[in-house]
Amino acid sequence: MKVILVLGKFLSERKIMMVPGPSNIDPAILRAMSHPSESHMSASFAEKYKRVLESLKKVFITKGETFAIAGSGTLAQEIGIANVIRPGDRVLNLVHGLFSGRFVDMTKRHRGLPKTLEVPWGEAITAGDVERELQKNDYRAVTCSHVETSTAVAIPLQEIGEVVKESGAFFVVDTVCSLGGLEVKNDEWGIDVNCTCSQKCMGVPPGLALLAAGVRMVRYLEERKETVDLFYGDLREWLRVVRDPWKNYYATQPVNLIYAIDRGLRQILDEGLENRIKRHRLIAQSFRVAMEALGLKLVAEPRYAADTVTGVYYPDGVEDLPLRNEVARYGVIISRGFGPFRGKIFRVGHMGSVSANDIMVTISAIERALKKFGHRFRYGIGCGAAQEVLSKL
Ligand SMILES: Cc1ncc(COP(=O)(O)O)c(C=O)c1O
Repeated sequence: MKVILVLGKFLSERKIMMVPGPSNIDPAILRAMSHPSESHMSASFAEKYKRVLESLKKVFITKGETFAIAGSGTLAQEIGIANVIRPGDRVLNLVHGLFSGRFVDMTKRHRGLPKTLEVPWGEAITAGDVERELQKNDYRAVTCSHVETSTAVAIPLQEIGEVVKESGAFFVVDTVCSLGGLEVKNDEWGIDVNCTCSQKCMGVPPGLALLAAGVRMVRYLEERKETVDLFYGDLREWLRVVRDPWKNYYATQPVNLIYAIDRGLRQILDEGLENRIKRHRLIAQSFRVAMEALGLKLVAEPRYAADTVTGVYYPDGVEDLPLRNEVARYGVIISRGFGPFRGKIFRVGHMGSVSANDIMVTISAIERALKKFGHRFRYGIGCGAAQEVLSKL
């Protein structure tokens, strides 16, 4: 009895975070955070902050400016929209789930006029859909979420970017669940404001809103006369700070999180963006084939399946909470569905520092939990299918 209790405690402290953010944090990043803080106005901090911003430019792939501000992905989204629209501006919001839908409310709160182009949860918006809408009306901005984490669907961002660019509208994109895991080319794909955060594909703890402003957006910020109705998130003010963080103050930087992202970005650039994207792709594929081998149905159509998160329908007779609790008993934390998917799907995040081992442990925990609740399949069939894919890593 005593042994079982000790083992239980051991498992509870060694959890693998397979939720779609926050992702697992590499110990080197945690160690980097634990250094004593320094003044956010010091020359040595300014040097690190500058290095972070330059590394971010390589990850966003932009010749514009990058920003690292205390906050989360939601703040990054709001900063994105608030800095582009003026009262009365028409905004086309592409909505395919919870997070892309928040841009509608943000648009309203910043006194824009939202027009929603919406598809049912689980489906993708295509460039053709966007082009048709842009031909009907002039818009100041178009917003979207590249990967809609609530459905695990990735929309074809590059193609959508091309039609938005053609229209002249500002393109505000949430890459919270893609940047650092999927291919995103900020400038080449016509993104004006790119909004993300630290705790997903970047593999750093929550707390940083990360943004890139493309060259056109930077010019607009430099020339903009109006103030925006978001004091903390006014990118025109932050522009002074990111250009010369030693001389200019706007708000105190989250010093230790900057140490963390400095280390995280070094890991990303050392791995190389291409290798990182390939790792995400193969791990995602391995998980998808495993779920299908177990007879489970995926939410996203194969061509729109995100390589950072997967949504899986529960089979008949298996309930949400008991299944996730059972998986958690094996030390693996997975996530529930939102909105119309609540109780119908579970979601597994596979991003950031995710490894082949992490995904194998996850699949094996899901197999055991499914077996317990009576789902019929041959033990190991999911793990075996995944191994075939992972051998290409
Ligand atoms: C695609 C997407 N956008 C925005 C957000 C909001 O980010 P945060 O929770 O960091 O505010 C999330 C969070 O999961 C997300 O997945």
